[in-house]
Amino acid sequence: GGEGAEGFLAMEGALTARDRVGIQDFVLLDETTDAAFLSNLTKRFSKDLIYTYIGTLLVSVNPYKELDIYNNKQMDLYMGVNFFELPPHIYALADNAYHTMLTEFNNHFILISGESGAGKTEASKKILQYYAVSCPSTTLLNTVRDKMLMSNPVLEAFGNAKTLKNDNSSRFGKYMDIQFDSQGDAVGGHILNYLLEKSRVVHQNHGERNFHIFYQLVEGGEEGLLHQLGLERDCQHYDYLTQGECAIVSSINDRNDWKTVKNALQIINIDEININHLFGTVASVLHLGNVRFDSDSKGRAQLNENNAELRWLLGVDAHSLQEGLTYRKIEAKKDQVLSPFTIDHAIYVRDALAKAIYGQTFTWLVNRINESMENKDLSRKNVIGLLDIYGFEVFYVNSFEQFCINYCNEKLQQLFIQLTLKAEQEEYEAEDIEWEPVQFFNNKIICDLVEEKHRGIISILDEECLRPGDATDLTFLERLEERMSNHPHFVTHKLADKMTRKTLERGDFRLLHYAGEVTYCVVGFLDKNNDLLYKNIKDLICQSKNAIISESFSTMDSDSMRRPETVATQFKSSLLKLTDILMAKDAWYIRCLKPNESKQPGHFDEALVRHQVKYLGLMEHLRVRRAGFAYRRKYEVFLKRYKPLCPATWPHWRGLPADGVEVLVQHLGYLPDEYKMGRTKIFIRHPRTLYATEDAFEKCKHDLATRLQAKYKGYKFLFISATKIETCWRGVQARKERDRRAWAVKVIKKFIKGYMTRGQAKNTDNSEYLAFVRQNYLNRLKGNLPKTVLDKTTWQTPPAVLAETSEILRKLHYRLMVRKYVRGITPQKKAQFQMKLLTSSIFKGKKESYPQSVQIHSHQCTVFFLLVQYGVPVIKYDRNGFKPRPRQLVLTQRAAHVIEEANIKQTVPYTSLKGISVSNLTDGIVVFHIACEVPKQKGALIMQCDTLFEFLTKLSIIANKQNAIQVVHGSIQFEIQAGKESAVDFSSGQEPTVYKAKNGHLMVVRRVPL
Ligand SMILES: Nc1ncnc2c1ncn2[C@@H]1O[C@H](COP(=O)(O)OP(=O)(O)OP(=O)(O)O)[C@@H](O)[C@H]1O
Ligand SMILES: [Mg+2]
Repeated sequence: GGEGAEGFLAMEGALTARDRVGIQDFVLLDETTDAAFLSNLTKRFSKDLIYTYIGTLLVSVNPYKELDIYNNKQMDLYMGVNFFELPPHIYALADNAYHTMLTEFNNHFILISGESGAGKTEASKKILQYYAVSCPSTTLLNTVRDKMLMSNPVLEAFGNAKTLKNDNSSRFGKYMDIQFDSQGDAVGGHILNYLLEKSRVVHQNHGERNFHIFYQLVEGGEEGLLHQLGLERDCQHYDYLTQGECAIVSSINDRNDWKTVKNALQIINIDEININHLFGTVASVLHLGNVRFDSDSKGRAQLNENNAELRWLLGVDAHSLQEGLTYRKIEAKKDQVLSPFTIDHAIYVRDALAKAIYGQTFTWLVNRINESMENKDLSRKNVIGLLDIYGFEVFYVNSFEQFCINYCNEKLQQLFIQLTLKAEQEEYEAEDIEWEPVQFFNNKIICDLVEEKHRGIISILDEECLRPGDATDLTFLERLEERMSNHPHFVTHKLADKMTRKTLERGDFRLLHYAGEVTYCVVGFLDKNNDLLYKNIKDLICQSKNAIISESFSTMDSDSMRRPETVATQFKSSLLKLTDILMAKDAWYIRCLKPNESKQPGHFDEALVRHQVKYLGLMEHLRVRRAGFAYRRKYEVFLKRYKPLCPATWPHWRGLPADGVEVLVQHLGYLPDEYKMGRTKIFIRHPRTLYATEDAFEKCKHDLATRLQAKYKGYKFLFISATKIETCWRGVQARKERDRRAWAVKVIKKFIKGYMTRGQAKNTDNSEYLAFVRQNYLNRLKGNLPKTVLDKTTWQTPPAVLAETSEILRKLHYRLMVRKYVRGITPQKKAQFQMKLLTSSIFKGKKESYPQSVQIHSHQCTVFFLLVQYGVPVIKYDRNGFKPRPRQLVLTQRAAHVIEEANIKQTVPYTSLKGISVSNLTDGIVVFHIACEVPKQKGALIMQCDTLFEFLTKLSIIANKQNAIQVVHGSIQFEIQAGKESAVDFSSGQEPTVYKAKNGHLMVVRRVPL
């Protein structure tokens, strides 16, 4: 029914080039006039449609109210979707820049411009948030991301202030690189800052405030901290906070902001000590502002208080402070002359110091933020740079700051034109379409007027600043008049014609910027450009106990011989550097417009907007974009949309998309001059051609729907869903990818948490990690088990949690291997091993020859008789003459027998064997000590046996005599017969011999290798 049709149209409406509210892309305007432009903008603004494209440029109008278009659902919607498939949005631009970067693997920047309060900073934050949410990111990177997000509140606290135009006005220019790795993860960031408006520290216009941080500290600072810094909780107490007479503003909650800033400082890794120093510098500026002077009888300035807090915070003594603030030290040859200040001069010096301290602190802070966001990994990154820089400014009175800011905008405009033309030209080239030159206003002449070496305004200003003698702002103006008199973009009171002269003061000069005329008042130019601190006060401040201050000032151009670069020159070179940075990247633009001066939602001041449209160069851009062909689309996209208009392409075109498009536009009657076929895109010269096509499409769609509806109820919905699915497909893909990554992030997060808590008992954080570790370890173990029992080194080192398990497993495994091994050995071998074991228990570590014996002895195999348990050849030594006799010693169940050729010569029953002695050395001597009361026995039995260990082991098994065996160090004493003793002595020599020594002992000489 009706509702379905409505939904159908609404849904399609979002896809059409012509939105139902005005048009979504200015490129498709019928005429490129200011009026048409503004009318479209107004129309859309009235329906809260604040975004409109000019091609890929995004125009944004500050709604001055919260719109529900920045939620996660919206972010999802724009992810991975073609630029022109959805209504214009800042997310679409952010997403397209991101995807282009990923697919083309190149660098990009997004230039956000617009006047104060137009929404630049908000736009840059929305982009950052979009990347934070939509880019894949791992836990480790989350910290980088947090730091990037958190750098904002810190920099805003120190660099933003309430002005008449904006309650949160950025008083510095900012360029921030977001670095992405090849996966598209945001892995690091870097900030460049430009020209902080330091004069605000000491002076604020009525209705304006100093930088937020001062109020945050005073209003939100903890009691203890304030006490420590010697501050009172009252902004009215501080001269630097009260000039604008609006310390408290309803739109600003300093106390909450204080908490945010403190938290952010921690996230960006600024430690406790530095945080204290940081607030110390902020407090010292406040104290400095309250320093007063009296004059003595000669009109010389003197400190009228002792300024204890200030001295304490700066860490300088009273005398030095007094001298630094009230005298200038002039070094003339070898002498030093102290030149006293008047009160005014002293105040000037005091303010200069306050500005310098604050400015240096700001730089210090940016450096710290950069350190914390730095990505130290050297692999290739691509970046998206965000440039949030002051827009063109025109006040009632314009000073040095406006001169710098407007020069900056002039440069950016130049870059913008160059890049836009370049991009256009490149696209034509890439598509093989002839380039048709575009007329545009080249603002190089104005840039040169300002920046040209030796001839530009900045050079002349520097010359005046450096010139000895009494150069003043007015002499600077005279120089300008001399040198610029014929320049078409420069005019002063003196140079002007009668009419113009009426609009100029004598101290003014006027520049004709690309965006319009601006009249600058020269007062203060020299001074602000010099930005000088006298050397003696700089030296003083270098002594500061506050590390931030002393560090910053001692690294400041300390070479006293050379003058530091002037402010304008520094600014100029930083802008040139910025231009280089930007030129190397692909450009995306956001142009912010401010609908009214009163920060009101829903109010569109056409005159105000027209002015901005002009100086933002929007019409210029539009003209360039439309100069050749207003509209261009990929063949696939064009065909997909318009194929129902031609029977040959509907419902399917089987050939190449380009051919399909050719057939289609022929069918539609496009004239040859109206379009061109590029390599991948169709180019349509006039929007009206496209409109005709679009109208035909609307009609056709409607007819189709009606026809289908008549035929099949519900088919229409199929049609709708089919279209919807096609459109959303890429979005779905992108979301899927993100979800997949989100899932991965979750797993990795869990993994890391598990890793960190792996040492703890099993809990919810680490259980999955531990399971993973377990499985991983077991798998590893499985593939790397020791293969033999002897292998004691192959065993995977377990993770701490598995140490116990691993030990159990190791034991089990060895037992298993042992069991297998044992089962595989023969009974003989087994007996042998058992013997070995016994031998070792008797001799290991006691007898010298044991280790060799272990090695040689396993191959021996002994024959067993039924009765005879064991037999071994021995040499028996007679007791008296120690004559050697070869014998067999045979062990039976009860006794040892000495046998000579089958005759038993002697039997020693085990019961009478009271001891067995061997030496600790390498010899085969064994002495049986036999109880002499037994009549038949004749004293000790002395033998030598080559397989001593085996023999004794057998003996100890059979006779159960292991305890009887003694390993003797030195001589072995024995009884030859009752009461008569003798001994075996041991010595060493080259040849082993055994003989009866003179002392009647048996001497055994072992061979000891030399
Ligand atoms: N998209 C938006 N939605 C809602 N409010 C907005 C939006 N953009 C800007 N604003 C409002 O406008 C105010 C000023 O915006 P913002 O601070 O971004 O301006 P700016 O262009 O950075 O100005 P300046 O040059 O002074 O720094 C914001 O504080 C906010 O209240
Ligand atoms: Mg801003």
